[in-house]
Amino acid sequence: MNASRPVVFSGMQPSSDSLHLGNYLGALVNWVALQDDYDPIYCVVDLHAITVQQDPVALHDNVRRTAAQYLAAGVDLERSTLFVQSHVPAHTELAWVLGTMTGFGEANRMTQFKDKSAKQGADATTVGLFTYPVLMAADILLYGTHLVPVGDDQRQHLELTRDLAARFNSRYGDTFAVPEALIPKESARIYDLQEPTAKMSKSSASEAGLVKLLDDPAITAKKIKSAVTDTEREIRYDPSAKPGISNLLDIYAAITGTSITALEAEYAGRGYGDLKKELAEVVVDALAPIRARTLELMEDPAELDRLLTIGADKAADRAERVLREVYDRVGF
Ligand code: ADP
Ligand code: NA
Repeated sequence: MNASRPVVFSGMQPSSDSLHLGNYLGALVNWVALQDDYDPIYCVVDLHAITVQQDPVALHDNVRRTAAQYLAAGVDLERSTLFVQSHVPAHTELAWVLGTMTGFGEANRMTQFKDKSAKQGADATTVGLFTYPVLMAADILLYGTHLVPVGDDQRQHLELTRDLAARFNSRYGDTFAVPEALIPKESARIYDLQEPTAKMSKSSASEAGLVKLLDDPAITAKKIKSAVTDTEREIRYDPSAKPGISNLLDIYAAITGTSITALEAEYAGRGYGDLKKELAEVVVDALAPIRARTLELMEDPAELDRLLTIGADKAADRAERVLREVYDRVGF
């Protein structure tokens, strides 16, 4: 534990059977790096996942797989607290308190809710999806979090978290740290290989555009070699005119640490086939040990659950202290 270091909180939903290359390069790589300087809390946010209906058997398995992938990618239990959200009841308890302090109109202004509920229709949209940002605020505030790595899509939710922290503090006395966004120095944004203007996502339209960490290496290589590019022949970084090639260069740069300029020089006068073939090797080499370690962890569910219980105990210790103070201040 790194008690004197700034606290970072982050989580991912266990809502697919494998994380993807966007999750890895856009989040996990950064999570691992943060362990050097911060006190990170990494959570598998299963309570958030059920705001969309999940199959119970698949959910149970995906929770473990997600945790296993965090570990396999390099989340280190000596330096980070890793746990499953539903294992620490303080999250839902604090969410209730914060929900009573959130304006209905304020919650109703969250654009992610508007987008998702518009897609789902009013009857399929749950109250849980509506209050999701309040639970996210509880996740963050329970650990005295200073910094939250956030993408654009979560920025408004972090603003709400900050408002709720400040509101609680002014109403009841100083209790919560007001967290700030942590913008990673180089945060890769990865696009769908088949539709390179759309973000790579678990809800991608085609499997072929989605590189999964747990795909068989031959499938990973095939997906990269089949990536959509353009009808030119020049390997040049230009995200608006050449989104496919630029995405491949971004992936290459993110994995190897080579600059885009150096890659353009290396591939000057060479064909798209060369780039794809070599990138396929780079990606397969990077993902192979993560996949192998994940499968190994999944083969020993008792051991994985033991690690998650230790993580939950550590997290609960910290969270319950904060919750007790909150209850105290509220007057319970
Ligand atoms: P998805 O878009 O597949 O639903 P999530 O929204 O669950 O993924 O994101 C989990 C984490 O992975 C977040 O930190 C998010 O910023 C990051 N992430 C997801 N997709 C990408 C992507 N295509 N490029 C970079 N980072 C991504
Ligand atoms: Na998403």
